[in-house]
Amino acid sequence: MEIRAMREADRDAVYTLLLSSLDEYFVPEIPVYFLAQWPCGQLVAADSVGNIVGYLAGARLSNGRVSVSLFCVAAPWRGRGVGSRLLIAFRQRAVMDGYRTIQLEVRTTNFAALEFYRRRGFLPTEKIVGFYNNGGDAIRMIGSAVLNS
Ligand SMILES: CC(C)(COP(=O)(O)OP(=O)(O)OC[C@H]1O[C@@H](n2cnc3c(N)ncnc32)[C@H](O)[C@@H]1OP(=O)(O)O)[C@@H](O)C(=O)NCCC(=O)NCCS
Repeated sequence: MEIRAMREADRDAVYTLLLSSLDEYFVPEIPVYFLAQWPCGQLVAADSVGNIVGYLAGARLSNGRVSVSLFCVAAPWRGRGVGSRLLIAFRQRAVMDGYRTIQLEVRTTNFAALEFYRRRGFLPTEKIVGFYNNGGDAIRMIGSAVLNS
């Protein structure tokens, strides 16, 4: 298992993983859009033969924070530490780029993800009604990019 920067050649594999992992529709251009906005904020996890099994898309926000905008691990790989490693790598990249705070939104019904972030130091700050295009509310969570701070 390797965590590395996303490359443009990963676009199709990343998009396939996105559609199969998240219960929302995304346009096919979305991974390349994030890549163009902030190349070093895009991470993938690849298995031993190079298949993409995890993806984290970060974004730099106008409020001086970064966000985890898209985050998924292929179902057979969940619960094996891939997501944790992606988040650690993302925190390191955020710090390298001078950011201290990470902001993200989680569907109110996604208890596994809410718990995942809570255990990694993220705190809920507000509920955002109608956040998702296909309906549904989000919980915004804030966490430090600096581990053990
Ligand atoms: C949230 C997600 C990215 C986490 O990735 P992951 O590789 O499963 O993460 P990890 O294995 O590092 O940790 C998962 C935690 O759930 C536990 N877990 C156990 N079995 C699990 C399973 N089958 N699936 C998910 N988590 C499981 C792990 O023990 C771990 O617990 P911990 O917090 O006590 O360490 C991943 O579960 C996922 O893609 N979910 C669907 C998409 C999603 O909800 N994305 C987030 C949107 S904000």
